[in-house]
Amino acid sequence: MIKHATLEKNSILLTVLILVVVAIGGIVELAPLFYLESTIEEVEGVRPYTPLELAGRDIYVREGCYNCHSQMVRPLRDEAERYGHYSLAAESMYDHPFQWGSKRTGPDLARVGGRYSDDWHVAHMIDPRAVVPESVMPGYPFLADTPLDYANIADHLRVNGLLGVPYSQAMIDNAANDLKAQLDPDADGAEALVGRYPKALVRDFDGNPDLISELDALVAYMQMLGTLVDFGAYKAEGPNLR
Ligand code: HEC
Repeated sequence: MIKHATLEKNSILLTVLILVVVAIGGIVELAPLFYLESTIEEVEGVRPYTPLELAGRDIYVREGCYNCHSQMVRPLRDEAERYGHYSLAAESMYDHPFQWGSKRTGPDLARVGGRYSDDWHVAHMIDPRAVVPESVMPGYPFLADTPLDYANIADHLRVNGLLGVPYSQAMIDNAANDLKAQLDPDADGAEALVGRYPKALVRDFDGNPDLISELDALVAYMQMLGTLVDFGAYKAEGPNLR
């Protein structure tokens, strides 16, 4: 039995024993992860992004929206009351890279889908002060007149597939058509699109049907955020805050 006084006087021995103790803690935390098949609980309703939503998400990343907005409602009462049900890991399982963010100059956006009309988003993106006079968010008016470049959208789906997003061959083959169909409820492919991507919203998002703009894609992405899981039916294991 080593006396505590001996330990405290012998720095090498102390260091070695500290390492042993820390290693035990580390193994207890890490070892189970190698045996679990998945650390993410699958949740009904979560599906891969439609090509249009994926393109919108790219614009979100390109413009650095994550510098001011998080996409993770934390399991704290004030957050759940403001934003809605706390975020589930499954809700960002197809995000590469994830958009949890670490800074909230603006509000969390994980559940912004359906909260505002498309018109509101369009006005807000063009000039935030037009709808929220005290806003410090920059305007992105150029998105409305910039044509969306979706020449590589099928490859984009394919690469996400390599990262583990379950895009089927049909989804990849139809990517460009699906992207266009999501903007036009009368398009031939609109029904097939919703078959492939349940709950996909089909309409012209930016109010200008003549141009497939970057704003179309960004608003389509905003409007689906947090809408896939039906929280009326979802039962969380552990404390549910709502
Ligand atoms: C410099 C920080 C900043 C950046 C960058 C920024 N925002 Fe914001 N955003 C804000 C602030 C502050 C608000 C709250 C005031 C308002 O509604 O304009 C806000 C509000 C919003 C809202 C309304 C959220 C709600 O629940 O009311 C949306 C949607 C939004 N931003 C989207 C975006 C998108 C998309 C981008 C990237 C193209 C972006 N923001 C970039 C600061 C920012």
